[in-house]
Amino acid sequence: MSTKPAPTTDLAPDPAPEAAQDPAERHSTVRALLRLWPYVRPVRARLGTAAAIAILASCVGLVIPLVLKWMVDGPVADRDPAGVWLGALYLLLLGLAEALLFGFRRWLVARPLAGVEAGMRADLYRHLQRLPVAFHDRWASGQLLSRGTTDLMLLRMFLAFPLTFLLVNGVTILIGVGIMLVQDWTLGLVILGPAIPVMITCGIFEKKYSAVARRAQDQVGDLTTVVEESVLGIRIIKGFGRHRSQARAFHELSHTLRGTELRKARLLAAIWAVIVTLPEVAIGAALVVGAVQVADGALSAGTLVAFLSTALALRWPVESIGFLLAMSQEAATATDRYFEVMDAEVEADPVAEVEADPVAEARAAEGASRDVRPRGEARLPAAAGGLRFEHVRFRYPDAAPGSTPLLTDIDLHIRPGESMALVGATGSGKTTLTALVPRLHEVTEGRITLDGADIATLSRRELRSMVAVAFEEPTLFSATVGENVLMGAGEGAGEKELDRALAIAQADFAHALPEGTGTQVGEQGLSLSGGQRQRLALARAVVGRPRFLVLDDPLSALDVHTEAAVEAALRQVLADTTALIVAHRPSTVLLADRVALLSEGRIAAVGTHHELLRTNAEYAHLMSGLDGHGDDEGFQGGDGR
Ligand SMILES: Nc1ncnc2c1ncn2[C@@H]1O[C@H](COP(=O)(O)OP(=O)(O)O)[C@@H](O)[C@H]1O
Ligand SMILES: [Mg+2]
Repeated sequence: MSTKPAPTTDLAPDPAPEAAQDPAERHSTVRALLRLWPYVRPVRARLGTAAAIAILASCVGLVIPLVLKWMVDGPVADRDPAGVWLGALYLLLLGLAEALLFGFRRWLVARPLAGVEAGMRADLYRHLQRLPVAFHDRWASGQLLSRGTTDLMLLRMFLAFPLTFLLVNGVTILIGVGIMLVQDWTLGLVILGPAIPVMITCGIFEKKYSAVARRAQDQVGDLTTVVEESVLGIRIIKGFGRHRSQARAFHELSHTLRGTELRKARLLAAIWAVIVTLPEVAIGAALVVGAVQVADGALSAGTLVAFLSTALALRWPVESIGFLLAMSQEAATATDRYFEVMDAEVEADPVAEVEADPVAEARAAEGASRDVRPRGEARLPAAAGGLRFEHVRFRYPDAAPGSTPLLTDIDLHIRPGESMALVGATGSGKTTLTALVPRLHEVTEGRITLDGADIATLSRRELRSMVAVAFEEPTLFSATVGENVLMGAGEGAGEKELDRALAIAQADFAHALPEGTGTQVGEQGLSLSGGQRQRLALARAVVGRPRFLVLDDPLSALDVHTEAAVEAALRQVLADTTALIVAHRPSTVLLADRVALLSEGRIAAVGTHHELLRTNAEYAHLMSGLDGHGDDEGFQGGDGR
């Protein structure tokens, strides 16, 4: 039974001096949970009321033994049936009141806490959208998913239950112990005997449990990652007959998780054993001592009944401490995991952005200019210089320290209205270079200017309204074709812009889809071929008539004839657009005014396709044998001249 005070020290906020155990560790649990305050603040009145009601309900429960005492010492001793019935009626009413109060508490907290969870989830999502690409490169998506789901659910459960009940049970135990001491202080001290060992056990338990809880939640994240990857990669898995090994890998992970969960269960069982056994022993001892006292006439039977029923009433509050602590520990872990993401620095923006809109930010990821109005007329010196890379150096944040940067010294000038093709061997850093322009990655040194303005001084909003991008691996969102393409345009863009962009990208097939441009595509929608998706991504890039266009090999999946048609249409767009186009095939390269060769982290040569074929062996080699169009020096250049 009643091992009273142990819990009070563990009450979530402002605990009293700790029981011996590692104050640092304990403190961090509390500190972790305190970080939830901003989210809990709006509902603090409700939570407070609910806690007060729960305490009241518990106290009502504690009055029951006192009524029993009155019955035993009064009507029962006097053999007065009317008094017994009256006592029974009181007991019934008290029981009802307790039940009603607890029900009311539950109703009070359910809705606001669902709101807290939703709010935290929305914040997490918004934050994820604003975190730099480098962050997403580093984090497994399953870890992020599990933080947005399991961990937040644990937090809601903590706020609904352990938070209140650690408080309520603590207060109940204190009051109950007080009542027992007043009834008979010697018996009270007997009951209090196990308090110290139980407190020590709780301390040890918390420390061990916190480590295991963290491991379990991280493993859930790993598991989520595997599920996610195998769902996305189901074609590869099936195609290569890897389902068995994949299932085995999954089985191993889930087996590990099971082990961790069992370890949690063992810890819980251990603390439960102590928390249940010691108090039971104390109750037994108090019963013996009390019975002797009653026999001696030193104690009334009613007092002993009241004493023991109070002790029994405290059993649940004491026994629950084990799992309340466990849940709090899990909640602290969940809070840590949540804030690990929330504390990651979002991309700094030189120009204060007016409360960035998360949806727009999401779109910005796959690039695209969002304004229909002519780009960047705002504050840039007109046509002062096109796109310029000045001594740009870049190394990935997670690259091995001390290794040479991927891009060592990029100097390149693309004149206003010019289109420049970027050619280089696989892995030479072409994709990386293009990602620097919309600032998906930050340059390590040097600068990039758009019409004279350093991109580091532009707000992301401005920058992305000037630059549109399309990548080799096109991403379509679960939305209609039209919505996917118009992501690249600003508010107010409509059918006209859509049709024009589809025409340029040779994506007129969209009109022939079952519901035309209103057809759902993306993961939940119609599956499109790689070339179709590339063309939609290209349409998205050109729909906003961007001043700067950055295309990372956007035509790689097209057949030669479609490619030629796209090129012809692109020429019109590119006429007044400054463009950087990563290309592999001579046919794509020929679309550009000039070509830049990227090699060993530098721009090794710049010139027209024909010039480079003649003067640069590496370029000639790259261009040889890569193309189906045998229409030019592409082939002759194969031998290096
Ligand atoms: N997010 C990243 N973190 C670290 N290294 C990367 C990352 N993305 C690409 N790399 C490395 O940078 C090099 C160049 O990649 P990339 O720019 O994609 O080349 P290309 O497009 O020319 O084929 C590769 O060696 C690749 O391993
Ligand atoms: Mg690439």
